[in-house]
Amino acid sequence: MSLSMALTKGRLEKKTVEMLDACGYGTEALKDKGRALVFKDSKKDLEYFLVKANDCITYVEHGVADVGVVGKDTLLEGGKYYYELLDLEIGKCRFIVASLPENDLFNKVGHIKIGTKYPNVARNYFLSKGMDVEIIKIDGSVELSPLLGLCDGIVDIMETGATLKENGLIVLDTVCPISARLIVNKASFKLKRKEVMDLIHDLEQEVLRNAAALE
Ligand code: PRP
Repeated sequence: MSLSMALTKGRLEKKTVEMLDACGYGTEALKDKGRALVFKDSKKDLEYFLVKANDCITYVEHGVADVGVVGKDTLLEGGKYYYELLDLEIGKCRFIVASLPENDLFNKVGHIKIGTKYPNVARNYFLSKGMDVEIIKIDGSVELSPLLGLCDGIVDIMETGATLKENGLIVLDTVCPISARLIVNKASFKLKRKEVMDLIHDLEQEVLRNAAALE
């Protein structure tokens, strides 16, 4: 049976395609894609869709895609009707709390405002610290919000740390590490068990090869 796979566009896309390539999958169409969004694998019985991270979860939850590759950041923020079966160990970064050096969030008395693209992650983090904060949802360039006085601090993704540094923000805490995960539709895991397990096996071997190469 054929498998359909939702891949997250953008930052994760190149690394995911490289990984599939290294596993011996036929990803030529994904590398020379123009404006197309659906691609057939040239070697395996597999079809790829390129979608935004949140939509990757939606397609998998609804069974339109049997499997998906998406960041743990997106998984932590929403969606739960899928199996998360493999850490691909690519797209590594972390969730952090940051602010201007003078905004000592954790010792501030009174109302605290936090800007973030990830309100659920931010809310859960501050609840775990016993802090009641106001969450302000922002869709991008989150680092700007404390600079302009919209909020006292942010919860965001940090990869290299360059964006924080260039905007004069400092890391106050790490919320958790993040990497890309393979998620699987619950029905597909039963009905296409062999195909899904073969894919997981191939990707797992590549995860191990990558880890060995780093040693
Ligand atoms: C992400 C994140 C940070 C930046 C971190 O934003 O929200 O702004 O990358 O990366 P760095 O630590 O390597 O500097 P993205 O580039 O996805 O753009 P956005 O802010 O418009 O969402």
